[in-house]
Amino acid sequence: MGEVTETLKNPLSMFDVKGKTAIVTGASGAFGRGVSITLASLGANVVMVSGNKEELEAAAEDARSAGGNVVTVNLRPDSLEDAQAMLKAGLDAFGSVEMLAVGSGYNKAGFIHEMEYEDWQAVMDANVRGEWFMAKVLGGYWIENEIKGKMLMMSSVRGRHGNISGYTGYCTSKGATDALTRVLATEWAKYGITVNSIAPTVFRSNLTAWMYGDDELGQATKKRSLSRIPLGRLGEVEDLMGMALYLLSPASNFCTGQVMYVDGGFTAG
Ligand SMILES: NC(=O)c1ccc[n+]([C@@H]2O[C@H](COP(=O)([O-])OP(=O)(O)OC[C@H]3O[C@@H](n4cnc5c(N)ncnc54)[C@H](OP(=O)(O)O)[C@@H]3O)[C@@H](O)[C@H]2O)c1
Repeated sequence: MGEVTETLKNPLSMFDVKGKTAIVTGASGAFGRGVSITLASLGANVVMVSGNKEELEAAAEDARSAGGNVVTVNLRPDSLEDAQAMLKAGLDAFGSVEMLAVGSGYNKAGFIHEMEYEDWQAVMDANVRGEWFMAKVLGGYWIENEIKGKMLMMSSVRGRHGNISGYTGYCTSKGATDALTRVLATEWAKYGITVNSIAPTVFRSNLTAWMYGDDELGQATKKRSLSRIPLGRLGEVEDLMGMALYLLSPASNFCTGQVMYVDGGFTAG
């Protein structure tokens, strides 16, 4: 029989993020705000980042009320300089940064035969280029300082499945997120850095608001998603927090390069 280790006797210690620091992009959005509040409530320091100052400050107040130390950076990850400014804010405020959650993302649906190339590029830039800048800056910092960082990206079931709704940008960008997750995980494994993604199906946020209203294509898209979800409902941001905490905490130290489907069973059937 094996030893009854301290970890087995105190399994919640594996999820301990207290005193560690996270950078969260897209922190005004549903996922970014949710993960910021979750980490803050567990005593982590959070650098909350978004391009919308008013919504960012409101979300930051919510995270502060939950108990964490929070600073805000009014930027999107549009360039290397932006990513460097986020890291600097974390270092200035808290001395080190151990976690990164890329919650910034965007979609503009359009059928390929009707849409402009620039609209496709804007989705790719928001969803893939932003991850790449954040990974380059945080990865460089982690390697140089021998920090076993935890990186979390937001993929989607659309990285694996097509859609009826004009998603050549979105599906392509999320397929790229999946590939980036795997290649960063393999490149950085020797440093003890882990890289994983969460792939949800539809959950309520600004991004999906069009599916909850009267829009005809939105309703058809929502109905089609629902019909394929064995658990019989769409997601809420709380549904993602257990996985986010797992992937950002020591509990996931032997898990890397994975796209974790938190999708009500969508990809199972
Ligand atoms: N909701 C879903 O059903 C669903 C499903 C699968 C995957 N996801 C993914 O989950 C992530 C979070 O999305 P969410 O649902 O929480 O959406 P959300 O509430 O709309 O939040 C998106 C965040 O991204 C930022 N953002 C918007 N446009 C941007 C752009 N062009 N460049 C950079 N940042 C931009 C927004 O902040 P500012 O405008 O303030 O900068 C906002 O904080 C995204 O990667 C999304 O693709 C969502």
